[in-house]
Amino acid sequence: MKKIVLTILFTVLPAMGLAAGGPSVPLMDIRADHTNKESLQHGAKIYANYCMGCHSVKYMRYERIADDLGIPHELMQEHLNFSDKKIGELMTIAVDEKTQKQWFGAPPPDLSLITRLKGGPDWLFTYMMSFYKDDSRPFGMNNKVFKDVGMPHVMVDAQGVQECEKHVVTDDEGKEKTVIGDCEITEAGYMTAEEYEIAVYDLTNFLDYVAEPYKEDRKRIGLWALLYAFIFTIVAVLLNNEYWRDIH
Ligand code: HEC
Repeated sequence: MKKIVLTILFTVLPAMGLAAGGPSVPLMDIRADHTNKESLQHGAKIYANYCMGCHSVKYMRYERIADDLGIPHELMQEHLNFSDKKIGELMTIAVDEKTQKQWFGAPPPDLSLITRLKGGPDWLFTYMMSFYKDDSRPFGMNNKVFKDVGMPHVMVDAQGVQECEKHVVTDDEGKEKTVIGDCEITEAGYMTAEEYEIAVYDLTNFLDYVAEPYKEDRKRIGLWALLYAFIFTIVAVLLNNEYWRDIH
């Protein structure tokens, strides 16, 4: 009985935790694909151009990304490494946390493990799609899944300005709160809506790969391990039959 209660507790509790702490806005559902090199390369380019100024990916080396994604080292150094770091070095950034905190109110965290911290790529994808105009914020932007975020919408030149309907509703306790409704782009960026969505997908795919660069190796090795176990089982059964033949 105790076992059953414990099992139920362990299955239900994490789900309850997620429900309690999770965002009120539903997340968009995407599937990362680490075999799509073209998407990962595009994502790496966006990361280098738009994110690396503030966020490190300090467990990664430029060289590993170049090799995994099939980017020649010279091209990597020329187009994706804007620091004076050598190809074998870790992708840290020069600005210190204290200064960043003064600028933004909160330091931009390292993004090496961001998709794993958020339980998958959906949150990051939705976050990058969810900046909207809000003049009450220091940078004039807010975010639907990260209320009052300290990060400016760095890709606003690409996406354009998104404006959302706001409804004031009264909850059960009589408190008024603002709910964000439908949104639309009111000032175009240099990308179309579809291009921006692809760019954000590729960026998310890239950061998902960074969080688990060995995922493809693991799948391949797993397959061989299963194959080995299968063949070995046949050998073991045959051997077993052979050993017992005269005894039966
Ligand atoms: C100008 C500096 C700056 C740039 C450039 C920038 N960010 Fe941020 N980012 C921040 C700051 C500051 C925070 C912390 C916000 C807070 O806690 O309110 C943040 C937070 C985040 C978070 C939330 C992390 C968490 O733990 O909740 C994510 C995800 C993120 N940034 C992704 C990106 C991506 C992807 C890019 C590139 C497209 C990018 N950022 C570019 C400053 C920046």
